[in-house]
Formats: sequence, structure tokens, C-alpha cells
Amino acid sequence: MQNNTFSTLFVGQNLIRLKEVDSTNNFLKDLASNSEPLAEGTVIMAENQYAGRGQVESVWQSQPGKNISTSIYLRPSFLPLNKQFYLTIAVSLAVTDALGAFIPHGIYVKWPNDIYFQNKKLGGILIENTLTGSLIKASIIGIGLNINQEEFSDNIAYKAISVIQILQKSVSIIDILEKLFVYMEKYYLILRSGRYEFLKDLYLERLYLFKQSADYRQGEKVFKGSIMDVAESGHILLEVEGESQSFNFKELEFIHTK
Ligand code: BTN
Repeated sequence: MQNNTFSTLFVGQNLIRLKEVDSTNNFLKDLASNSEPLAEGTVIMAENQYAGRGQVESVWQSQPGKNISTSIYLRPSFLPLNKQFYLTIAVSLAVTDALGAFIPHGIYVKWPNDIYFQNKKLGGILIENTLTGSLIKASIIGIGLNINQEEFSDNIAYKAISVIQILQKSVSIIDILEKLFVYMEKYYLILRSGRYEFLKDLYLERLYLFKQSADYRQGEKVFKGSIMDVAESGHILLEVEGESQSFNFKELEFIHTK
């Protein structure tokens, strides 16, 4: 890759690189509301994100200059209300394809959209939507990937991993970003063309622990279950003691084996 001219039509064509920011998602949200209309596909990337946000109000930690902290601006207003989970699917597929170009085996999506290598977390996705009525007016796709970070703090070291730890060599962040933008555009266009079944089939193929028995927690209750399907609503369907049970994101916790 030279001069950051990505081989895409729109994703990454307007690229804003920041040395430091609280959160690329926050920055992009402010930019979108202060400079409408913002070009679809605008990307923010930051070398250092000092208040990165994760799912369910968690903190996203990343060593400065080592990883990918980026946010992409999309306007998927074509997506009907009952199909909105397919945006999560499309983004998960784009991220796994991009990483798959460097790491040929072992990349999975842990439901709904954590990025795993084998049984450790390689990255995460935080999608924040602005709605008009029931349609998505704008979507901020936040992606954090552990690339060249060699050590993690004690509280996450047992469950986090990076590309450098997997490949035993550093990888160019801009080369991974290029792939990410290419695949993001590809899957976004597939989503726009309405090929929902195609996207869902691929997502299930890449789903971590699909049809495998594993330990889960719901509140105080710990039980074994196997993922059998993911519904259009985004709910996960587990087979638990021979019966199908449906859970939403906040209800179910996967128990990580150390
Ligand atoms: C998760 O908890 O797994 C989601 C992590 C998402 C982190 C990314 S880094 C870029 C973007 N900006 C943020 O503040 N969060 C997302």
C-alpha cells in the first residue's frame, strides 16, 4: 500500500487520521452531527485512543501506536427494521475476512460480534446507530483490533491475543486497514442488495462454538448449551438439555475457560 489510496469506491476515501482522541466513535458522531452531510464511508483512525469504549459500557484498552482503533461512517437507511442485525453480520464478516487475509486459520466471530482467534479475543466491534423513526439514518461502526501489542494487562491477558502474538512478526496496520475497507465495502454492498441468507450462512460458518457444547451463565444460573442458530432479531438460540432457548445479548454470558 502506498499513499493511502485505498482500492475502494467509498469506504476509507475520506480518511481522517488523528494522533490522539478520546474515542474514534465519539469523534465521528460529533463530526457527523456538525458537518452534515458527511460522505458515506468516512473513516476516523487514531494512533492513541485514551477513552475507548467497548460493548455494554465497558472500557476498550489499546496501547498507543500498536493497534487498530477506527470508526467507519455508513448510512444504511435501506435496511428494514427487522433486518438490522444483518449490519452486525456484515461488519463481522468484513473484519474476519480482513484478518483472514493475514491469518489463514482460526478466526471466528463470537456472538454477536467479538472477533476471536481460537479461544481468545483479537478484536471487538461497537456499532452505534442514529435512527429516524425505525430506520437507521447513520451508523458509526467502531472497530478495535489488537495488532502489534505484545502484552496485555493481567486482568485480560488470559483472554486477549494480538496478530503479532499469533504470527510472531509485526504486521503493517495500514495493510490490514486496506483489507478491512475493501471487505467492509464488499459486505455492505451485499447487504444493500438484500442477500440476507448468504450473509447469515457465512456468519454461522464463522461462529465461535457453533453446535458445540460450552458453559454459559444467565444471572446466577450456569449451564451447558450448544448454539443452534441466530435469529433475525439478533437473539441466540441455544439447545439446553434438549430444549431450544433464546437469549438476547445482555442476558447471556459465555464462561471463558482459562
Ligand atoms: C468490544 O467491547 O468488544 C467493542 C470494542 C470496540 C472498540 C472500538 S476501538 C474504535 C472504536 N472507538 C471506540 O471508542 N470503540 C470502538
